[in-house]
Amino acid sequence: MLIRLTYASLLAPHCDQACIDEIVAKSAPANQARGITGILAVDGDHVLQILEGPETVVLGLFEHIRRDDRHQGVVEIDRTSIEATHFEAWGMVKRSMADAVMMSESI
Ligand SMILES: Cc1cc2nc3c(=O)[nH]c(=O)nc-3n(C[C@H](O)[C@H](O)[C@H](O)COP(=O)(O)O)c2cc1C
Repeated sequence: MLIRLTYASLLAPHCDQACIDEIVAKSAPANQARGITGILAVDGDHVLQILEGPETVVLGLFEHIRRDDRHQGVVEIDRTSIEATHFEAWGMVKRSMADAVMMSESI
């Protein structure tokens, strides 16, 4: 079963632009290799991430991400089963918060 999971969190003070860029650079190929797609939006210290893919794989990754000390206060906002992934072109791509909210409202 495919799911789409959305969560919000707050970046840790030590996670600067270079830290975010590293997360995106590593996540894109890692996600693609696992059959996960998604977007990551960062606005100031606010993070919104949408992950899509096979349920067990997404939940396993989310457990990993939850424990990452580069962010805190991870709150799952939504978990939905889906027919097909929406962000199939990307393993992970960074978008503005406004774009991410618009995308999450249009899917
Ligand atoms: C906000 C945030 C988003 C992340 N998103 C992903 C992601 O989409 N895919 C991924 O593989 N790792 C992501 N990570 C990194 C993981 O927490 C973890 O460091 C990564 O999976 C590598 O784990 P490993 O060092 O045990 O191999 C994210 C980390 C943070 C702080």
